[in-house]
Amino acid sequence: MDPITRRAIPAAGLIAAALCLAPGCGGSSSTAAAPASTATTSGIAEYLTFTLDALPAYAQPAFPVHYDAQVLQIDNQRAGNVVTDKGASLGRVLFHDKRLSVNDTISCASCHQQPLGMGDAATFSAGFAPGTRTAAHSMRLHNSRFYGPGSMFWDKRAATLEVQTTQPIQSSVEMGFDGDHGGIPALVAKMRTLPYYPELFTAVYGDASITEDRIQRALAQYVRSMVSTHSRWDDGAAVTYAPFAPGKGLGAPKPGFSASENRGQQLFFTAKPDGGAGCIACHAAPTFALAGNSLSNGLTAGENRIFKSPSLKSVSETGPYMHDGSLATLEAVVDHYDHGIQDGPALDPRLKGPNGLPQRLNLSPADKAALVDFLKTLQDSQLATDARFLNPFKK
Ligand code: HEC
Ligand code: HEC
Repeated sequence: MDPITRRAIPAAGLIAAALCLAPGCGGSSSTAAAPASTATTSGIAEYLTFTLDALPAYAQPAFPVHYDAQVLQIDNQRAGNVVTDKGASLGRVLFHDKRLSVNDTISCASCHQQPLGMGDAATFSAGFAPGTRTAAHSMRLHNSRFYGPGSMFWDKRAATLEVQTTQPIQSSVEMGFDGDHGGIPALVAKMRTLPYYPELFTAVYGDASITEDRIQRALAQYVRSMVSTHSRWDDGAAVTYAPFAPGKGLGAPKPGFSASENRGQQLFFTAKPDGGAGCIACHAAPTFALAGNSLSNGLTAGENRIFKSPSLKSVSETGPYMHDGSLATLEAVVDHYDHGIQDGPALDPRLKGPNGLPQRLNLSPADKAALVDFLKTLQDSQLATDARFLNPFKK
């Protein structure tokens, strides 16, 4: 609950916004054509574990039955940037490439680690310069495809996934291509010297020109491919879910669940007036992405900023929790919703009691444990080891 940490977030946002006024930050000004590649051997074959003629499948993922038409309506894939196997493969290379930081030390994957739900175990992640740390806890990236416009980052300051993706590269903490280090033009100049990029950009875009817009599109395609549909909860939903059938909704008891896991699911899915904990009103199933109209959840008294939550898929892998990493465990999170919520202008009305004050759920110890047990069923072990998201670099 360190006030300095909390203040650091909008400041970082402002810095990012200020940087984007600089020449080269908008994308179009860094579009100078790259010289034709003079490489005689394939940079892809030399540096990467995949070949262009046998790419993993990212396009058109097979969604299970419980990801129905209603869910696919909130898919934020843009008409002009539909996921392709080539585009997402370029995104994969960019995501894992430490050379996209000024001193070759940090990639996106340093802070968004596949076994950790694409998040980080550190409260604040290490930046490119020794001893530096981010101002907020890293976010899991599962299901970020299911967030509407204007909802990227904890404080929703980035309008789309595309726009979001090059901000860490330009951050003076994260990857360091800030104004002092030449910004995007310096990044592009460096990328032209790396033998695999001209080949990859040509395969995806038809020519070797590297631009911020092209980098953003490919990274967004890769991040959008991180769809989580294989947690134990999903495996249960895939067999129990039948739209509109009574007793067969997303919150129906799951066959493989323990009594406590099913009780936790019931609490999560049931509204407060009906004896539940009302979590589903904001953390929406089956994606467990946060509802677009959610306000804040009362971590600090007097809070007037609105925060989002990443999808709760694989949440058990990446404590500490919340934008400031202030809650160390899922037990602490449940205690927060039970009796810790603080009042403030940004507190969501759904987290208030009938008296208009912050809710006090007064859950029994067994019900608190059940909620934690349920949250653990959202862990997606398949995505945690999916070969399409492994580091593709040989060197
Ligand atoms: C040094 C650690 C670090 C690096 C490197 C990093 N990130 Fe992040 N990422 C974070 C943190 C911390 C946040 C939350 C920041 C905030 O909200 O202010 C975040 C947030 C995000 C989000 C927003 C998710 C959401 O649901 O709103 C996306 C998407 C993302 N990062 C993608 C990337 C990509 C792509 C790269 C590489 C180009 C990258 N990150 C590099 C730490 C990092
Ligand atoms: C009014 C909407 C709302 C409701 C209802 C709600 N949450 Fe949240 N939840 C949020 C917001 C907003 C955040 C992120 C807050 C932040 O970091 O500032 C969050 C964060 C979380 C996180 C941490 C995610 C992370 O990656 O750090 C967990 C776990 C969580 N909520 C579980 C629950 C449970 C369990 C319930 C029911 C008892 C619940 N939530 C009810 C809005 C809500």
